[in-house]
Amino acid sequence: MWEQVSSLADELRDRSILDLFAQDPDRFSRFSVRADDLLFDFSKTSIDQQVLTALIALTEAVDLPAKRAAMFTGEKINETEGRAVLHTALRNLDGTPVMVDGHDVMPEVLDTLDRMEAFATALRDGSFTGQGGAITDVVNIGIGGSDLGPVMANLALAPYCDGPRVHFVSNVDGAHVHDVLAGLNPETTLVIVASKTLTTIETMTNAETARKWMAAKVSDTGAQFAALSSNAAGAAEWGIAPDRVFGFQDWVGGRYSMWGPIGLPIMIAVGPENFRAFLSGAQAMDKHFRDAPVEENLPVLLALVGIWHNQGLGHATRAVLPYEQRLLRLPAYLQQLEMESNGKRVSMDGGPLPVDSGPIVWGEPGTNGQHAFYQLIHQGTRIVPCEFMAGIEGHEPDLAHQHDLLLANCLAQSEALLTGRSLEEATGLMEQAGFEGDELARQAAHRVFPGNRPSTTLLYPKLTPFVLGQIVALYEHRVFVEGVVLGINSFDQWGVELGKELAKTLTPILAGEQGTEGKDGSTAGLIAAIRAGT
Ligand code: F6P
Repeated sequence: MWEQVSSLADELRDRSILDLFAQDPDRFSRFSVRADDLLFDFSKTSIDQQVLTALIALTEAVDLPAKRAAMFTGEKINETEGRAVLHTALRNLDGTPVMVDGHDVMPEVLDTLDRMEAFATALRDGSFTGQGGAITDVVNIGIGGSDLGPVMANLALAPYCDGPRVHFVSNVDGAHVHDVLAGLNPETTLVIVASKTLTTIETMTNAETARKWMAAKVSDTGAQFAALSSNAAGAAEWGIAPDRVFGFQDWVGGRYSMWGPIGLPIMIAVGPENFRAFLSGAQAMDKHFRDAPVEENLPVLLALVGIWHNQGLGHATRAVLPYEQRLLRLPAYLQQLEMESNGKRVSMDGGPLPVDSGPIVWGEPGTNGQHAFYQLIHQGTRIVPCEFMAGIEGHEPDLAHQHDLLLANCLAQSEALLTGRSLEEATGLMEQAGFEGDELARQAAHRVFPGNRPSTTLLYPKLTPFVLGQIVALYEHRVFVEGVVLGINSFDQWGVELGKELAKTLTPILAGEQGTEGKDGSTAGLIAAIRAGT
């Protein structure tokens, strides 16, 4: 199935993207697509109609429409865990039935959403109180999928945050919980333990620390705790009353979970109405993904561009570059979404993947990244496909001139990557600067930009809750399409387990309760150095 894409990649590896524009004046409209008010431009890549047809053939070979339908209708597509994959049900605000094992899950989903809204409203209007009165601060303790989404969204939606202050603790490093709790008043703080399983060592350790911190001042700590978890029995053991436990089913994967109870810290910060708008944006993208023909389907095209760059041309990494300071944590969020989902070396049947697994995702907001790592993107020896994104409008009308500057920088970067600067141009510039002879050649060489480096741009009107929902759902579906084409299970994460198991064996060794027998030489050496304090 990969032959055609591979042979096109070999043939077209060095083709000029600028020539493609010269040959086709309509290239921008032909290789850009809209979904509602999002615009995705992939004309600054080496994809032409022939490549696109070959990429679309990949989706046909795996029967993408059937796989997509299987996800939306609750089939157990997470085969290694025997689970359905239904985060889309969490934003199915119409409540149309979604069946799992012959049972409609929507009444429970909508009931939980109502309960979340009632609780968030009570926190926001001060009717839910702690020992010291209205809640001023909320501390969400979770990690991975129980942290990254809400952290990312609360930063992204800062202009809408008008509820209690929401803080996040994730790392087992005591410095994290210490620094977050320092300065908070336990009597007016609510702690949310966000863990699908309530067994994650980092989260449970931090929650215990927070409970002790609160117990020093608050007589009934359970009354100022809430839990977001599938493990109702575990929450009860923590003394958290059932009305403050918000559950979800095993068909919600950790990294896909912020649309339901794991999103409570978002709802507390921005309010139920804005949270519903966030869900609506995602729901709009779900509809587009289900209904739009493949040539106009934004998640499918975004996935295929990534596949062309990674599995086709062999560019192992992908930079995500939001020109939106408030999307500061989007790259980290997408790292988990993409790399925990598609960072796998075997296909669904356990056999080796015929091509590389999903890409290495990294990035930072522009313009900051420009002053850090863009040097390598422009002039390094490796090609890094870049995904730019930007809002046409900012939230600060009085700072519109800064927003214009931001957009100019975003466009300048993708233009520079495409057009580059030739040796001739660089030589001319250096001549003007007064260089000649060998020194002219040497100075000019450093100022050459090879260009022809691929990038895509996602434009959105303004970073509202609705738009954020659209963008995140777009990336979720992109990861899904990529996983289907690669033939892997995007919804398990066995690769994180071994390290967790070994950490358990190392804890008593570090505490000096056990010896290092059976450990490799390096690990034993490091343990000895830690014990010796050097
Ligand atoms: O790191 C593995 C993982 O299972 C993630 O997939 C998940 O998001 C995270 O741990 C947290 O899990 P939990 O919500 O059960 O604490």
